Amino acid sequence: MPSIGLSKPLNISREIMPRHVAIIMDGNGRWAKLRGRPRIFGHKYGAERVREIVEQAGQCGIEVLTLYAFSDENWKRPIEEIGVIMHLLEHYLRKERDELNRKNVQFRVIGDLSKLSSSLRNLVLETRTMLSGNSGLILNVALSYGARAEMTRAVAAIAAQLAAGQLKPEQIDQELVSSNLDTAGLPDPDLVIRTSGEQRISNFLLWQAAYSEFYFTPIMWPDFTRDEFTKALESFASRERRFGLTSAQVESSNQAASMQKMESRPC
Ligand code: FPP
Repeated sequence: MPSIGLSKPLNISREIMPRHVAIIMDGNGRWAKLRGRPRIFGHKYGAERVREIVEQAGQCGIEVLTLYAFSDENWKRPIEEIGVIMHLLEHYLRKERDELNRKNVQFRVIGDLSKLSSSLRNLVLETRTMLSGNSGLILNVALSYGARAEMTRAVAAIAAQLAAGQLKPEQIDQELVSSNLDTAGLPDPDLVIRTSGEQRISNFLLWQAAYSEFYFTPIMWPDFTRDEFTKALESFASRERRFGLTSAQVESSNQAASMQKMESRPC
């Protein structure tokens, strides 16, 4: 069983807390295999871990947590496994949405919802509406999601606006592209975490992760505890993000920003 143990408090300033963390929750199948159990056993424990990480993200003041729950490519998995993952998602939403509401969590989904069963799609839309009045953490679930498909949909939407004469070619800029993606209105991810030792992006947020920091850990997703999340956040806090600038330029702008630093707080 994964441990639920007490976690170490994290004492870093909220200025160096990422606004948006995106996680590729990988390794459920291998975690189960190591224990001589079927893959679905790993997904079940993986879903348990989601609850804990969502709670911690909210406590840390993270604005957006994107979880890669099911990719476009995952539709090619055995039908039984797809069924179990869909069932777990449904179960999670039914069971957790009141609690998410109490915790002031908002809910969004990115991906091609047309491929989902109508019951899951309705549940997802209902949950989004139910939590839409909240103002805390945005839990953004990538479901039936693939970045290339998302970008293709955005290109098609922009082409349709051009064809309808609502847009001129010279009006196409990066902001317009961003606003036609599923993540419209969300900040780009500052930190992308991938568990299980794999070091790939796997068609996840290809546009949005242009300047993200990456954190790869060998820990399998069902073992990704609050302490492991803390390590990822500490690693992020220790990095210098340059966005194409020089170190000296970054340093002088950081000095200005640190004048307004808020109190650090444990989370
Ligand atoms: C990757 O592990 C995991 C998935 C494809 C499914 C993730 C789904 C959950 C954790 C279920 C619930 C999600 C939410 C948001 C409630 P893998 O199967 O690719 O593992 P492997 O690489 O070891 O085979």
